[in-house]
Amino acid sequence: MKLFVDTADVDEVRRAARLGVVSGVTTNPSLAAQAGVSGMEGYRAAVAEIASIVDGPISIEVVSEDVEGMITEGKEYATWAPTPWVKLPSTAAGFEAMKALSDEGIEINQTLCFSVNQALLGAQAGAAAVSPFVGRVDDTGQRGMDLVEEIVSIYRNYGIRTQVLAASIRHPLHCVEAARAGAHIATVPCAVLEQMVKHPLTTVGVERFRQDWQRASGS
Ligand code: G3P
Repeated sequence: MKLFVDTADVDEVRRAARLGVVSGVTTNPSLAAQAGVSGMEGYRAAVAEIASIVDGPISIEVVSEDVEGMITEGKEYATWAPTPWVKLPSTAAGFEAMKALSDEGIEINQTLCFSVNQALLGAQAGAAAVSPFVGRVDDTGQRGMDLVEEIVSIYRNYGIRTQVLAASIRHPLHCVEAARAGAHIATVPCAVLEQMVKHPLTTVGVERFRQDWQRASGS
């Protein structure tokens, strides 16, 4: 399972990329707002900087809600990075725009996916990746990872090539479960990525090695 970092904050992208484990970045309008990115020029500049740090797909989300607007935005975003993934929502207009843009060879990340049916539609419309929002399903009292498991298994039935990108990841256990479910990618907030690194026994082990070495060396 590949790991993407889920942020529009360039400093966070830099911090995450330093670990050497990040294969892509996902952004959305909320993340852009949180990072203080505003306006199309601000978004474009942030994406360009992110693309100079991470060598992999950068997801850039449309804000239009109508088909024409989504297509216009999608074509523009497709020029913003070496490997752009245009994020389109799982709406009727979104599916129509997915088909039009994917027919032109633009890679699509189908976002705000909350059902297997939406994932089936996205695959037909040519999405390169589908993003089930695990944490937001959990918030409703349902198990979000069930959706990831079902999409992976149903896509396998038909050899569907759309990648399953587990999104709205809130904690390290989500990453373990997404990998167990067979997700191709998990997009993870920087803080969760940093939590994934940590284990108390590693910290204790490093300290013990240091102390033993110092004792033996008489220092
Ligand atoms: O990857 C989608 C993500 O940014 C949404 O996360 O925590 O707002 O549900 P959250």
